[in-house]
Amino acid sequence: MKKFKEIKPEELEFNPFRLIGKDWMLITAGTEEKFNTMTASWGSVGILWNKPAVTIYVRPTRYTYEFVEKYDEFTISFFSEEYRSALNFCGSKSGRDYDKALETGLTPVALGSSVGFEQSHLALLCKKMYFQDMDSTNFLDQGAEKFYPTKDYHRIYTGEILKVFTE
Ligand SMILES: Cc1cc2nc3c(=O)[nH]c(=O)nc-3n(C[C@H](O)[C@H](O)[C@H](O)COP(=O)(O)O)c2cc1C
Repeated sequence: MKKFKEIKPEELEFNPFRLIGKDWMLITAGTEEKFNTMTASWGSVGILWNKPAVTIYVRPTRYTYEFVEKYDEFTISFFSEEYRSALNFCGSKSGRDYDKALETGLTPVALGSSVGFEQSHLALLCKKMYFQDMDSTNFLDQGAEKFYPTKDYHRIYTGEILKVFTE
């Protein structure tokens, strides 16, 4: 089994525009035995309440939402280009219909009390500290509403970064 190295958040070389926006990430919650994962390309990394933090956006229609809701911790995982097809699969199919680990060959690995994947080059273990549902009456960007033809506004979760695992 792969041995991840643990580093401090301050040691991270993390370009969110490339890693989240271009490379994409997997948001995963649950246990090694029962979890779900999905691709995401929206998110932020920063500080909240003096803690290193990650913010993710999950629509309530996602199967992953049920897992992020149920479990205190979640992970975000990053992969090299060779896993693009796996991320495309996890971003277009639902865990309600497919075993995503089986279909993609990604190998789940316990990270804290949550789960990540052996193939990732970077994984952040996060503990939920805040959530809020997007309120469209607060949209100040004219273009925002077009992302919600069925009004399934994202739930915003901010998690404290508990651990950072690198190769
Ligand atoms: C590149 C990419 C980025 C995505 N980003 C998000 C996101 O930030 N939030 C979200 O709710 N869904 C996002 N999705 C859609 C989910 O990954 C997709 O609906 C997935 O099939 C949900 O799987 P699930 O039902 O197993 O949770 C994205 C999909 C792709 C391909």
